[in-house]
Amino acid sequence: MSSQATPAKKRSLSGIKPTGFPHLGNYLGMIRPAIDLQDDFEAFYFVADYHALTTVRDPQALRQSVYQITAYFLAFGLDPEKAAFFRQSDIPEVTELTWLLSCVTHMGLLERAHAYKAARDQGIEKDINHGVFTYPVLMASDILIYDSDVVPVGADQVQHLEMTRDMAQKFNSAFGGDFLKLPEARVREDVATVPGLDGRKMSKSYGNIIEPLLPPKKLRKQIMKIETDSKGLDDPKDPSTCNIVTLYKLFASAEELAEMEENYRRGGYGYGHAKQALFEKMDEHFAPYRERFNAIIDDHNYLDDVLDAGARKVRPTVEDVIARVRQASGLGR
Ligand code: TRP
Repeated sequence: MSSQATPAKKRSLSGIKPTGFPHLGNYLGMIRPAIDLQDDFEAFYFVADYHALTTVRDPQALRQSVYQITAYFLAFGLDPEKAAFFRQSDIPEVTELTWLLSCVTHMGLLERAHAYKAARDQGIEKDINHGVFTYPVLMASDILIYDSDVVPVGADQVQHLEMTRDMAQKFNSAFGGDFLKLPEARVREDVATVPGLDGRKMSKSYGNIIEPLLPPKKLRKQIMKIETDSKGLDDPKDPSTCNIVTLYKLFASAEELAEMEENYRRGGYGYGHAKQALFEKMDEHFAPYRERFNAIIDDHNYLDDVLDAGARKVRPTVEDVIARVRQASGLGR
């Protein structure tokens, strides 16, 4: 027997905003990769309910969305014995660290944030609340308060991770010490950007999403809305430029994909046929997860137990980091 102690696992941390049902892009870009890390990392994952409040105004919908996302992760295999899964707002210290980071963060850095710039460029600045502007600071605090090593995220969050490192460095150099740990983004290169119904990146704000755990009828309805060109049933079609094929590729075997591509080139195969094939593949793939999801989604006691246990598990780290930054910055005695 080896007498060597197992080295401490590195910590993986990520968050997801509860603004409705997660879609296929969330699943492939963040949920699946995050769950896949739960064996080799100490996994801390949370539902970002504070972040949702930049837009959500319906408390019941917010709570329901937190339950949906929790049930989602559990259905897809998150093991609450291994990973901590919790509500962001069960750790209110995160807002205290947000303030400390705000005081070392330049306006210019936040003005360069993609989300804020996009909103401002669309001329809706008067509708942008301060929470939207300061969103990246709260997110940095989310990450830094857990001494995180890696952060599994979709490619759209990479800028936020760079800003997080920047803020940690600013804090450390302002107060002269290694108080906050610099995290690294972990973007799965093998996960291509998932196209939405209209071919743009799948995003809730574009209204082009597919929600894989919907009941089959509704899932089929969404898939039937995928936009294509107007070629008729008999025309040969180009599989390399078709959204249906791009999505089919994510779930089909190499042979199944080759068969669909062949059908496209030959003609006599309509987009309706391709959509039906995609629906059947996705339905088959997601049916067991949907079943698990449906079995737990209304069991709020169970979901609350999971969330409470998660918050308890992360609390010692939080208290440690908060004590460190308070000490460093001169708060308290
Ligand atoms: N901003 C992320 C998103 O919109 C959600 C999020 C909030 C997050 N805090 C985080 C992700 C901390 C990773 C780490 O998807």
